[in-house]
Amino acid sequence: MPAKTSRRKSRRIAPPAAAAVRSKRQAPRPRPVAASRNGHATAAGRNGGQARAQRQTVTLTDNRTGKSYELPIRDGTIDAIGLRQVKTGSDDFGLMSYDPAFTNTASCRSAITYIDGDRGILEYRGYPIEQLAEKSTYLETAYLLVHGELPTPRELEQWTHDIKYSTMVHENIKKFIDGFNYDAHPMGMLIGTVGAFSTYYPDARHIDDPASRELQTWRLIAKMPTIAAFAYRHSRGLPFVYPDNDLSFTGNFLSMLWKMSEAKYTPEPVLERAMQVLFILHADHEQNCSANAMRSVGSSRPDPYSATAAAAAALYGPLHGGANEEVLRMLELIGDKKRVPEFIKKFKKGEGRLMGFGHRVYKNYDPRAKIIKRTADEVFDLTGRNPLLDIALELERIALEDDYFVSRKLYPNVDFYSGIIYQALGFPVEMFPVLFAIPRTAGWIAQWREMITDPEQKIARPRQIYTGARGRKYQAIAKRPKSAANHLDDHQHRAVRLAPMPFASGAADSSARF
Ligand code: CMC
Repeated sequence: MPAKTSRRKSRRIAPPAAAAVRSKRQAPRPRPVAASRNGHATAAGRNGGQARAQRQTVTLTDNRTGKSYELPIRDGTIDAIGLRQVKTGSDDFGLMSYDPAFTNTASCRSAITYIDGDRGILEYRGYPIEQLAEKSTYLETAYLLVHGELPTPRELEQWTHDIKYSTMVHENIKKFIDGFNYDAHPMGMLIGTVGAFSTYYPDARHIDDPASRELQTWRLIAKMPTIAAFAYRHSRGLPFVYPDNDLSFTGNFLSMLWKMSEAKYTPEPVLERAMQVLFILHADHEQNCSANAMRSVGSSRPDPYSATAAAAAALYGPLHGGANEEVLRMLELIGDKKRVPEFIKKFKKGEGRLMGFGHRVYKNYDPRAKIIKRTADEVFDLTGRNPLLDIALELERIALEDDYFVSRKLYPNVDFYSGIIYQALGFPVEMFPVLFAIPRTAGWIAQWREMITDPEQKIARPRQIYTGARGRKYQAIAKRPKSAANHLDDHQHRAVRLAPMPFASGAADSSARF
């Protein structure tokens, strides 16, 4: 059994009182913190001097009882547990906050990635994404995310060595991947295989051992491209290609994908660099759906492979990392620049979404999309222009002038242009979410390591507002009235079995399968 990490006691609930209430940890801080424009805390705070003079509390009046409560504000937030003291009487559970999609809830403190959504700023460990995309490599960026600092030459050499020498997978993994159907979605194969790693590396259970965490970090970052390439080769009926450690991280990935009968695969430098840039841009994005899955599943303390499988599953959905696949299918469906206005009308009516547009946090142009647009030009110089680019540019032009998109602050996100490059590089659309998952693994593992070592974290376990029946009496089956519940009748069952696959999915119809 892994040893238990020592944890601080859970935060004290401030008692109901009109006076300011401070627990030990809520004592005045040496550096006052103000909220940034997007509501996120910034350590410096624009009005630092003024904030220092202000009382860092909020007063809440419960109109049911007339009582007032003063809640401490820390880093632009109040502790949700502080609301529990707001009660109408001793049998009242206390007030909770309701936030079904975490739209206004900070779930952790993190020093990994900073986003200012209003200004379109993204930084990894304080370094602007533009500088990293221009000057860094994916492995160096991964080191930065995981370890918090850019590596020295020696540290980078060691890190590169440790990862490169972890790229091989157990031979049984080949058999495992062979077991998938020929038309299995590569993202499904990736999720299944990374989950299976937990059975190959049982030592990964020792999550409280820093050396074990480091080893699993190398393995995860290193092996994701290998299983992604194997999944691709399986779907094409091609033999698997073993890793080539002479090549760069992305060069090796391209080799495992595209190598045929040549003795050695030599990646095209422009494409190899384009992949580096794409990998850097996708490496982390603070508390997105998949990072939250990684943290949430990881909080029950399984091995990191199991948590990564959950994170990858969260990424798979079309509203998250699956969006790049959907963008391509949407562009193909539009088919011609002239049809863009017609589709824009549909999106505005709620008939589908303009995929690759909009973001929970960015209310400005996603900085990653800008860099991808530039990278696309470099790739197209070599591969020839992808005709879908013209449709994408027209969509962007019209959407950015249209009040519907302008008023909702919907701008292109990272997925809008990435698929066009991936397609020009020769990837089938099903591989697009996989190409997102490979680099995001560095971010997931950085988030997981931060969570595991954060004394404020506990098992993630939200509350609910119960809306169902209570205290009913069990009835024997023969005595039950015909159900009014939402069951499918025989006709509906048949309809479901014969229904086409969801919009834009190119996967085969599975209705005839067992
Ligand atoms: N097309 C048309 N309308 C949209 C779109 C869109 N792409 N995105 C949001 N809206 C509308 C939405 O209908 C709503 O309108 P109203 O106020 O009239 O109800 C309003 O804008 C706010 O949208 P929301 O769904 O409440 O916003 P959210 O923060 O919950 O969702 C999102 C964010 C990314 C899921 C959403 O913008 C979306 O579905 N975009 C398309 C999918 C996509 O590109 N996903 C990739 C996200 S970036 C990469 C990643 O991190 O995974």
